[in-house]
Amino acid sequence: MRIDVFSAKPHDLFFMREAARDTNLELQFHEARLNRDTARLADGAKVVSAFVNDDLGQDTIAVLAKLGVQMIALRSAGFNHVNLRAAQGAGISVARVPAYSPHAVAEHTVALILTLNRKTHRAFNRVREGNFALDGLMGFDLHGKIAGIVGTGLIGTVLARILCGFGCEVLASDPYPDAEVETLGARYVEMDELLGRADIITLQCPLTPDTHHLINDAAIARMKPGVMLVNTSRGAVIDTKAVIRGLKSGQIGALGLDVYEEEGDLFFEDLSNSYIPDDVFARLLTFPNVLITGHQGFFTREALRAIADTTISNITQFHRTGAALHPVSLPD
Ligand code: NAI
Repeated sequence: MRIDVFSAKPHDLFFMREAARDTNLELQFHEARLNRDTARLADGAKVVSAFVNDDLGQDTIAVLAKLGVQMIALRSAGFNHVNLRAAQGAGISVARVPAYSPHAVAEHTVALILTLNRKTHRAFNRVREGNFALDGLMGFDLHGKIAGIVGTGLIGTVLARILCGFGCEVLASDPYPDAEVETLGARYVEMDELLGRADIITLQCPLTPDTHHLINDAAIARMKPGVMLVNTSRGAVIDTKAVIRGLKSGQIGALGLDVYEEEGDLFFEDLSNSYIPDDVFARLLTFPNVLITGHQGFFTREALRAIADTTISNITQFHRTGAALHPVSLPD
């Protein structure tokens, strides 16, 4: 059975080949992102494997259906980029990797918090230039600060454990509170209280119609002046223009992003010999208190191996039984 892997980077080739070693799956890799124009590359494939910035809207799915593709095997946990209704209508099954390494994303979130706080990214450059002055580098003790975690699923729970370890008071908000998180020492509060009391706010919820632009002008106005805001979930949970207004007024004291609402046109590509076509993103890069990484929260050896293994298991199970191990279906 032929599997066409889109948005394939060298690490995908390595880990997917390793995961499929003992199967008779035929992997075909495409560097191209999957969209309605590139979908025709999957002619002859039964399964396509897609990543976070592939376009799995109605038009792409219509092309895939015409080619006889039966399954979309996502190499991600998030599935906000898939038109599930169109897939269901076309009889195409969708599967995802619900958990690969919550530690990878939680630890990257902590990396952003620590870097923004202690400004190690700036210190690195200064010391290399022989500048040992400390002005502008002052941070704060994490110990004793209030951290607010929005979304305490797999990643949020690991993050709660780490931040409790730092001696933070951890507040959490989630429509489905988890007793394990409370056992760690975190406390569930209403979103309003979290926004108003937290020194650091981190977003670990999925992108859904309910969480789209959850962080908007009104939410920012309720935050503590000088708050640190970190988003490693999905870009559109934040209204970027509202956040820029918050940075300009000083209401937001530091911003850490691993995701961006229009990242599809930027992330995972080398634009260093070109230019940044997105003016809003370019504006973000002008703030000294903004730290952006290009969607690398997941990017650890352990996570990549787990993503490949689960993707291949989803496909082989689908091939054997007609149902993937981790199917994604429309909510009832
Ligand atoms: P999960 O499904 O285990 O947890 C998500 C939690 O968010 C759930 O407990 C859910 O009840 C909660 N939630 C839903 N709506 C909410 C709302 N309005 N307010 C507060 N909480 C809400 O997902 P997991 O594995 O923890 O991942 C979270 C998100 O992180 C994913 O949906 C994905 O978008 C993102 N992610 C980012 C990665 C990166 O590389 N930066 C890698 C993997 C995931």
